[in-house]
Amino acid sequence: MTQRRILVTAALPYANGHVHLGHLVEYLQTDIWVRFQKLRGHRCIYICADDTHGTAIMIRARQEGRSEDELIAEMQAAHERDFAGFDIEFDNYGSTNSPENRELCGEIWESIRQAGLVKEKDVEQLFDPVEGTFLADRFVRGTCPKCESTDQPGDNCSKCGHHYSPAELIDPISTLSGATPEVRSENHLFIELEQLHEFLNDWAIGDDHLQTEVANYLKGHFLHEPLRDWDISRPGPYFGFEIPDSPGNYWYVWFDAPIGYIASTKQWCEKHNEKLDDWWRSPDTEIHHFIGKDITYFHTLFWPGMLKTAGFNLPEKVHIHGFLTVGGEKMSKSQGTFVMASTYLKHLDPAHLRYYYASKLGSRLDDLDLNLDEFKAKIDSDLVGKAVNIASRSAKFVQDGNLSDVYPDDGGLFQQAADAGETVAKHYENCDYAAAMREVMMLCDRANKYVEDREPWKLRKDPAKQDELRDICTVALNLFRQVAIYLAPVLPGLAKQTAELLNDPIGPGDWEKSQTPLVGTSVNKFQHMMKRVEEKQVQAMIEESKETQADEAAGGDNQYNDGPEALEKEPLTEEECTYDDFVKVDMRVARVIEAGHVEGADKLLGLKLSLGGDVTRNVFAGIKGVYEPEDLLGQLVICCANLAPRKMRFGVSEGMVLASGPGGKDIYVLRPDSGAQPGMRVH
Ligand code: MSP
Ligand code: ZN
Repeated sequence: MTQRRILVTAALPYANGHVHLGHLVEYLQTDIWVRFQKLRGHRCIYICADDTHGTAIMIRARQEGRSEDELIAEMQAAHERDFAGFDIEFDNYGSTNSPENRELCGEIWESIRQAGLVKEKDVEQLFDPVEGTFLADRFVRGTCPKCESTDQPGDNCSKCGHHYSPAELIDPISTLSGATPEVRSENHLFIELEQLHEFLNDWAIGDDHLQTEVANYLKGHFLHEPLRDWDISRPGPYFGFEIPDSPGNYWYVWFDAPIGYIASTKQWCEKHNEKLDDWWRSPDTEIHHFIGKDITYFHTLFWPGMLKTAGFNLPEKVHIHGFLTVGGEKMSKSQGTFVMASTYLKHLDPAHLRYYYASKLGSRLDDLDLNLDEFKAKIDSDLVGKAVNIASRSAKFVQDGNLSDVYPDDGGLFQQAADAGETVAKHYENCDYAAAMREVMMLCDRANKYVEDREPWKLRKDPAKQDELRDICTVALNLFRQVAIYLAPVLPGLAKQTAELLNDPIGPGDWEKSQTPLVGTSVNKFQHMMKRVEEKQVQAMIEESKETQADEAAGGDNQYNDGPEALEKEPLTEEECTYDDFVKVDMRVARVIEAGHVEGADKLLGLKLSLGGDVTRNVFAGIKGVYEPEDLLGQLVICCANLAPRKMRFGVSEGMVLASGPGGKDIYVLRPDSGAQPGMRVH
């Protein structure tokens, strides 16, 4: 077998949100493929990076009152932590906001200019005069110009489905500031893709670079008519790279994002003393991109066009997967099925998700459903009941002993499983992991049947049968080892445990070990390998997901676009406090048991708060005119219970009720969620 040189990428996750179980479909699919190629002995590198540029990051950084650099550094650390938690192993994880990327963008831009593909056009776009920024479609809402439904998004109407440009909306407002946007005309730079039509057509339709469904989709939706010009610039302010020969304009995030694949490879090359051209400009390298179906046209039209123009390798294959649903539905924040990677890791075993996804992933674009009952059933039956069972029922009879010196007659089982290796490999290569897993489970079934038929546990006490016992275990453990090798791309942890049990590593190039049995070597004490899925852990994960902040999700679906005004009025300037400082303030849930006006006070209401039992506090709250006494009577509030009593003209105030807002009419009493009990501490 000749050694291939393979460069693999997964799409670069946006830096504006955390990794969730949907993203993991992709990063796991890719990780499994890379591990498979390495196990087969090929040279293969897994390249990724954070996708950091664009309006969303800029706005979010502003809202959080910090620099974009700080925000993206924090997100990148979180992403890398989550990926590592799932045993996703990148050879290099970079950032699109890197010097390497800026330089490569310049180089590729230069080629595109020289090829005569750039043209300029004026574009009308909505501009938020308060925020001082142009508004992406999703930051505008207004009345549909067709059916006149109010509060519709900037690109198409959710009621009648009509598509429009945000400038066509009636009474548009900016969701960033609430201001009425102005229509402004700006000069944008475009790439004339149509000039590459013939090339793109040949590349996309011929030569198996794309799944058939994808090629058909491109033919039917884009390639059957002239390709539209691609708008690749945005006027400032914009978080990105300024275009060197067009000051004040920035490359649109989708221009520099895929170039991040090359930039991240460049970093890897520098660390490993390799030449970038060997990986991106050599007929001896295959480039494989893994992406989700939502970003198909960026990777199958724009990107090949850019690569071709700048003289880089074209992708050998773009592997496109479908979307994750949970319980047959779109992931939902309120139902707790929008599960963050970090939340999963707190409750469940990452190896379980790796296997579950593998068992469901085919080579087509179908969506993949995570069904939590099936998840448990599969792990319990396939991994625990079938795979690990082969070892756990045999290893203990040879532990701290040796395998037989000659491989015993097993009726052809080992050879059968060795022969199945090529079938399994073909399925991995084609990204049909579901088929690969089915094949391996069949091998497990045969191995388990062998063990059941021979009943090693009955031979254990018979001194005359010890050689036979050793032979049975030698067979069983060798069949198990084959399974562990075939599953190693999916379950690297199991491969490692197996290697330790049998004193023989399973590493890069070791797929071949499935073809030759181990004999005469020593076996270590069997260590527990895998647990069943605990139902209550699954529930706990779902519960916790209901609680996590909705705006943490990545993928541009952040629906909370609050403006920065409040923070601008009261910036985060308080000195840092320690936890010990924080707990000095004893805040409690309290119920308002009496509420009334205070004689002679025009801003105060007098409240009597119960902290449970007969502990009460009388407080004066400056909320008269905003709240009526009856608004608060019987309600739960938060009070500071250890504030030094303060003598006022109207009496002594024994604490305070927590409220937010600058004051005057603009004040909001904080209330705990229902379920909280008076006296509970706030922390
Ligand atoms: N930043 C772009 C990609 C730039 S590549 C040069 C992006 N980022 S993303 O964070 O929104 O998505 C990253 C990958 O995860 C994409 O391939 C996307 O299709 C995939 N998924 C995001 N949500 C998903 C599901 N719910 N299910 C399956 N894959 C999903 O797009
Ligand atoms: Zn409409």
